[in-house]
Amino acid sequence: AAKKNSPLIVGIGSGANYLASDIPALLKYTRDCAVMQDGEIAIVGKSSVEFFDSEGKPIDKKLMHITWDADSAEKGGYKHFMKKEIAEQPRAVRDTLSGRIVDGRVHLPELSLGDEQIKNIGVVHIVACGSAWHVGMTAKYLIERSAGILCECDLASEFRYRHPVVRENDLCVVISQSGETADTLAALREAKNRGAHTVSIVNVVESTMARESDDVIYTVAGPEIAVATTKAFSAQLAAVYLLALRLSSAVGRIDEKEEKHHCDALLRLPEQIEQVLENEELFKPVAERFSKASSIFFIGRGLDYSISLEGSLKLKEISYIHSEAYAAGESKHGPIALISEQTPVIAIATQSNIIGKTLSNISEVKSRGAKVVLMCSEDTVIKENVADYIIRIPQCDELLMPILAAVPLQLIAYYTAILRGNDVDQPRNLAKSVTVE
Ligand code: G6P
Repeated sequence: AAKKNSPLIVGIGSGANYLASDIPALLKYTRDCAVMQDGEIAIVGKSSVEFFDSEGKPIDKKLMHITWDADSAEKGGYKHFMKKEIAEQPRAVRDTLSGRIVDGRVHLPELSLGDEQIKNIGVVHIVACGSAWHVGMTAKYLIERSAGILCECDLASEFRYRHPVVRENDLCVVISQSGETADTLAALREAKNRGAHTVSIVNVVESTMARESDDVIYTVAGPEIAVATTKAFSAQLAAVYLLALRLSSAVGRIDEKEEKHHCDALLRLPEQIEQVLENEELFKPVAERFSKASSIFFIGRGLDYSISLEGSLKLKEISYIHSEAYAAGESKHGPIALISEQTPVIAIATQSNIIGKTLSNISEVKSRGAKVVLMCSEDTVIKENVADYIIRIPQCDELLMPILAAVPLQLIAYYTAILRGNDVDQPRNLAKSVTVE
């Protein structure tokens, strides 16, 4: 085996050795492994492994022992990894916040920039793929709104080839569960070459992005096995909340009192996610309705739009039903032409400053026959007949709503896929880590 650009891990077993592109793939067989570096070569036999550098000289390769608890790689009584990982979200968020909020203030020593350097940031570039990009969309909104710093959010496959304007005082944040996604890694290298300070938000310890970025903020979701991400997504959201707060306080946009208020709200999230999980029966009728549809739309504005994107992706990944997320205000510029009585629409409206606008978009699709599921907070006062089905989520700091809104959407996707008899954990044509471009 030889390593060049794409990740390569050698697993050391007893009576067998293994090659894989990430650590979770090996956990069923062994917890001892070597992470190969570019140019290195391994000769792997049944009972021996030899390592060489690019010149063919033998090298003494350091082995790693993975200490993730064994439970994480087992279904633990759940039928699917996805269901287990959905249920683990309170823990994943709690662990990601743990030690990073001290006396009501964000404590993020992983970010090596001091207040003065943060004040000097020109642009924050956020780059990611798939669900991690949806976290990036949320982060863009949060950072611009709370820290007042210009923030661009790019798909990694676009960023790497679009000749982005990245300057030395810019900050580039890559977000990735695996830390190995080929496009995101290439984007990280591109930003680094252009002189930006790079931060990775990754879940897999010692992954390539973690090693190559200037700073790394680990999410503490534990190994995620199901292809469709859930707990790593929530943990990433928790991490970007911390980052946004750190930036906001460094630039002086929030004072200590406000920071404490936001930190307290963050610390309440795990319990509120538990409350959403306890209501899972309420989401099954929605899945029942969706499972018979051939096309579904998700609409929302602002933060609700970023979570609509995630809800739509989750649904299509595992149910194989066509679905699209649209910024609610854009729906009349095209998608509304596709609305009929057979097209369910799920509208997310958790933000009080724009809920009126989203409600008027709901009436537009409803008057074309769509059956509408509305997701809003428990405190929202809604007139009768606004929607056909209403999902209420606990009230929290509005900026934190995406993390609570994600959970019903994950469960709806999960139950829809089950009703359609699909392989939830291993959806067709998809891979957990995409290490090719
Ligand atoms: C694949 C997975 C997605 C994930 C995306 C990015 O498409 O199925 O769940 O969001 O890759 O992966 P990353 O490891 O970079 O977060």
